Amino acid sequence: MKMNKTSVMILAALILSLAVPAVWAQKENSAATKIKKDSSVYAELAKAPRKAAARRNPLEGDPDAVAAGGNLFELHCAECHGETAEGGRKGPSLRAVEVQQSPPGTLFWILTNGVVRRGMPVWSKLPEPQRWQIVTYVKSLGPGENPPQ
Ligand code: HEC
Repeated sequence: MKMNKTSVMILAALILSLAVPAVWAQKENSAATKIKKDSSVYAELAKAPRKAAARRNPLEGDPDAVAAGGNLFELHCAECHGETAEGGRKGPSLRAVEVQQSPPGTLFWILTNGVVRRGMPVWSKLPEPQRWQIVTYVKSLGPGENPPQ
């Protein structure tokens, strides 16, 4: 078959229209895997100043705080970290040992300061008691598995 200019262009357009969505899908996928595979994702936890990390959770073990924190989590955090904190497209699992073994004061410090350059927002506008409620909820999930990789 002899190809004229038009048929070459049509063929090129066809190939492109098939290839572009495939490349996009790959990109999306690798964004999600990047979060899970990036071991430095929890590195910020180690940077909490000792004094901040040592702060006691005034609501520790309070079942009402767990419930209230769960509601706040759904409202503010689930979008990125998943409904049950198992990790989502935009944020890592909070059931990972790195998070669960962190002292409450460290989690409170993370919420207060965020990790903005890496996509974790600052929550200092939430009143302190609400931040502690969220910390209490996250800690109540207990030491969990890292998400399947
Ligand atoms: C817009 C998306 C987004 C929202 C909303 C969000 N996070 Fe995050 N969070 C992230 C990302 C991205 C990271 C990973 C940051 C990094 O690489 O250090 C993260 C990290 C964390 C970490 C681990 C700290 C670390 O070392 O990075 C904790 C704990 C955390 N988030 C708790 C929360 C809680 C609790 C809420 C709700 C108040 C929340 N996040 C809301 C995106 C989000």
